[in-house]
Amino acid sequence: SWTMLNIVEDSVEAVRRQVGEGRAICALSGGVDSAVAAAIVQRAIGERLTCVFVDHGLLRKGEAEQVERDFVAVTGVKLRVVDAADRFLKALEGVTDPEEKRKIIGREFIRVFEDEQRAIMADGPVEFLVQGTLYPDVVESGGGTGTANIKSHHNVGGLPEDLQFKLVEPLRALFKDEVRRAGEELGLPAAMVWRQPFPGPGLGIRIVGEVTRDRLALLREADAIAREELSRAGLDRQIWQCPVVLLADVRSVGVQGDGRTYGHPVVLRPVTSEDAMTADWARVPYDVLSRISTRITNEVREVNRVVLDVTSKPPGTIEWE
Ligand code: XMP
Repeated sequence: SWTMLNIVEDSVEAVRRQVGEGRAICALSGGVDSAVAAAIVQRAIGERLTCVFVDHGLLRKGEAEQVERDFVAVTGVKLRVVDAADRFLKALEGVTDPEEKRKIIGREFIRVFEDEQRAIMADGPVEFLVQGTLYPDVVESGGGTGTANIKSHHNVGGLPEDLQFKLVEPLRALFKDEVRRAGEELGLPAAMVWRQPFPGPGLGIRIVGEVTRDRLALLREADAIAREELSRAGLDRQIWQCPVVLLADVRSVGVQGDGRTYGHPVVLRPVTSEDAMTADWARVPYDVLSRISTRITNEVREVNRVVLDVTSKPPGTIEWE
């Protein structure tokens, strides 16, 4: 729209004024906020922005490609991709406690990002760090400026506070729906613009039990099927998000063809919500649930049972960990 175009252009102009001839870095998460922020800054300063995408191996199917291929194709952003899956998996070995997982993932993320930062600074100083802070985040953190105000809960993509960067926050005045419209205006891939909330620690906190490569692979397949069927049913905008959770340490007996199986259950957790503070379980039509269940148990060999979470928040959280 005309007004959105103006908001984007004004924002590009403001970044140009702030950064001048300086250089900036930005960590991309695959989510809409960092993507729109980066796209705006790219328009303002071009090659003087370097984006870093840390693939921690905990993303969903297709998400890394969305950033590396589609986002770059549309924006022309200069991007460094770090395939850090081995490193994260190694650090997560034997870990089952959810908060421990978050701490480890957050810590490794910062280490990888700092390595990248050093490499980028070898070409000359970088003064600015781009962040996709939205207006509600600004309000929630008391309107402060100048520091990285990431809630500790949302700790991936969160950067150490002692980094001596000036922050560039082109989305500081915007609400989520405005960011999405800006994303459309900038021509970003629809899958990114309309992506539902997804936690920074990714699939790492959707495997109840130890995170392993094999478990990630099967959860990724089950999750992709659920997302595909919910989209196909046109439920993307009604459902806030739908975690698919692998109960990796639970096994149950099943039967398939002539054989008895002893596989794992996955939980579907579709919720409706306004702001994630409270949520209700989504009344997904039975035929959609049925398709998801049939496909997951047919296509993901190790999963022989699909269960539905019918708990509101409170008392349940949206995620299982
Ligand atoms: P809960 O499970 O607390 O989730 O009801 C509320 C919202 O926050 C997301 N979430 C996270 N996001 N890092 C994030 O970036 C995290 O560690 C994390 N834990 C939960 C969750 O997906 C939901 O949207």
